[in-house]
Amino acid sequence: MLDSSNVRGRNGQLGGLAAITGVHGHVPDDVLTNAELAAMVDTTDAWITERTGIRERRILKGDGLGSSHMAAKAVRGLLAKTGTDPRDIDLLICATTTPDLVFPSTANLICEMVGLGQIGSFDVQAACSGFVYALTIASQFIETGKSRKAIVVGADKMSAIIDYTDRATCVLFGDGAGAVLVEPSANGCGILDTLIRSDGSGMPHLHQKAGGSRMPASAETVAKRLHYVHQEGAAVYKFAVARMAEVASELMSRNDLTPDTIDWLTPHQANRRIIEATAERMKLPMEKVMLTIQKFGNTTAATIPLCLWDYEPRLKTGDRMLMAAFGGGFTWGGAYLTWAYDGRKAAGEEAAAGLPESCRETIP
Ligand code: UT7
Repeated sequence: MLDSSNVRGRNGQLGGLAAITGVHGHVPDDVLTNAELAAMVDTTDAWITERTGIRERRILKGDGLGSSHMAAKAVRGLLAKTGTDPRDIDLLICATTTPDLVFPSTANLICEMVGLGQIGSFDVQAACSGFVYALTIASQFIETGKSRKAIVVGADKMSAIIDYTDRATCVLFGDGAGAVLVEPSANGCGILDTLIRSDGSGMPHLHQKAGGSRMPASAETVAKRLHYVHQEGAAVYKFAVARMAEVASELMSRNDLTPDTIDWLTPHQANRRIIEATAERMKLPMEKVMLTIQKFGNTTAATIPLCLWDYEPRLKTGDRMLMAAFGGGFTWGGAYLTWAYDGRKAAGEEAAAGLPESCRETIP
């Protein structure tokens, strides 16, 4: 077994504990409401609100704009508000299920758009668990000293792969991006534990049938509408509730956490009922649970960083936070961290940097 004390980074030094030291987000201006969807498919505002908790979602419009467009805006804002010189960033990881292109990676494109230079950058594909996966990887780069300033961005333009004639999926998803800066901790607060898991036998329940090497795009695949999200909602729901609770319980038990000592749960936002079931199993009151699903829907890899951005003004140094995610694959995972900075002050700096704040007001 590898003795971790022997792991040395590029300077021959361990990097120490990794911490999230900044967060920023971007959602497109265009809002798609439940009422508008009810005019498109056989659904109602009441059904969507009661069964999912979603009231509206954002949609990226404009020719030639992909996930990188939103990610670049989130990353630019992150650099501006944290006063970070782009030349100091040495790693960028993008979690996405809706890359701009099959190749090169969306991460490569973001670096070029933002002017991050010739640094290591790559995409992580773990569907809705992608941000937790990417954060786990980035924290290892920091801990080993291989990276000093890493950016993790979750970005998805789900509207690109949603069938707006399928009421079972089109009401659920939205577009958005959220980015965090990850650095060695300066105050002992940071990412203390992470957990990632997968089970490929879940594929039939949630996947996109065509467009990959197994079934490349053809006139037939387009005609058969095979380039859209296929989800068997009830089956996925059952797994999501069980796995989200499992993640939370494993992280709580191995870090000696109780409902009283946890300040925040930052869950993937797929369905308000899944989130409530997770909180209930953790015996956590909903006041400690971050919720943005009502206004952004399910933005896949972007849900967790968008929650952090939205709740940033309420986050205090030392707050204990659990993240939990579940998604296609199946994939699931989580993280336990102590918040490393004064969120209220950082949000103030965001305003001072002239960054748009229009989406920050939270609805409890
Ligand atoms: O983020 C990645 C992981 N994804 C998830 O975690 C999503 C997990 N699944 C879910 O959140 C829920 O299963 C859904 C929100 C997708 C669906 O809710 P549900 O309560 O599980 O509904 P259901 O699929 O069991 O369908 C119940 C009924 C069906 O009608 P019948 O067969 O009972 O007559 C559906 O056809 O609701 C119908 N239905 C709708 N009705 C109005 C499905 N979608 C709609 C709709 N509007 N949009």
